[in-house]
Amino acid sequence: MSITVKPNQPQFFAEISGIDLAQPLAAADRDAIEAAIDRYAVVVFHDQKLTDDQQIAFARHFGPIHSSAQKARHRGIKHRLERDEIADISNLDGDSKVLEQNSKRRLDWLANRFWHTDASFRAIPGALSMLYAHIVPPEGGNTEFADMRAAYDDLPDATKKQLEGLVAEHSIWHSRGQLSVTNYTPEEIASLPPVPQRVVRTHPGSKRKTLYVAAHASHILGMPVADGRLLLLDLIEHATQRQFVHAHTWKQGDLVIWDNRCTMHRARPFDTNQVRDLRRVTTADVASTLEQAA
Ligand code: OGA
Ligand code: MN
Repeated sequence: MSITVKPNQPQFFAEISGIDLAQPLAAADRDAIEAAIDRYAVVVFHDQKLTDDQQIAFARHFGPIHSSAQKARHRGIKHRLERDEIADISNLDGDSKVLEQNSKRRLDWLANRFWHTDASFRAIPGALSMLYAHIVPPEGGNTEFADMRAAYDDLPDATKKQLEGLVAEHSIWHSRGQLSVTNYTPEEIASLPPVPQRVVRTHPGSKRKTLYVAAHASHILGMPVADGRLLLLDLIEHATQRQFVHAHTWKQGDLVIWDNRCTMHRARPFDTNQVRDLRRVTTADVASTLEQAA
């Protein structure tokens, strides 16, 4: 089978067609998909029909799966989905009912509305996230993506110089704290301590430099917290100007893959009384960004 890659912008967000992802993946197609992700950072496949097992099997072709940190954070809560490899991005509880407004999982999930990159708060962060739409709400619920390589390229030289060698501290509790969601147990908090990550990194597949910041990034090591936080906010504001952003409007059967190493994303609002059932598998990066090229 030969796939077709149709870019939406010259270097960002492509649509891939001519492939059924439920079938075994041929090596040539795997390589063509990886090349498209390296170039465009975000790709979408429409009209797919995937079980959880098939979604996991497809993802495994691109690296080891990052086991779901979410599960550890919600011990004692009934889970809707069997497989630990799948992060439940839906607004459904363990009985497939729409989450109560004040439920712990709903409040935690709302943090996806911040600009972020997946699992930057873990020492070994996420590489590729693959989000598959089972049920989409009638209105809203877009996901937006920001091109962090283009955003880096567009920085003034003086800013690029200023960012050289900087390391930010990322913590999931920082992003949750901004929503005043703090009802976590000491055990949950201890399970995800803050981690350092480079602010600028080289994207391995394209060798392009990219910004690596997110709502999880709280401050810059070696700088007063306030100065570092303001710098991070400026960088996020810069990177999310409309020319760097693509909004994806979901259709049932869409699988979107994004490269967390060179993008940010955020969920957009919808009527959360309506069902939105999206499920994600994420591959693990090779190491902390500190152990990778600056
Ligand atoms: C995610 C995420 C955004 C959305 O799956 O990591 O942030 O629109 N999703 O659901
Ligand atoms: Mn996310």
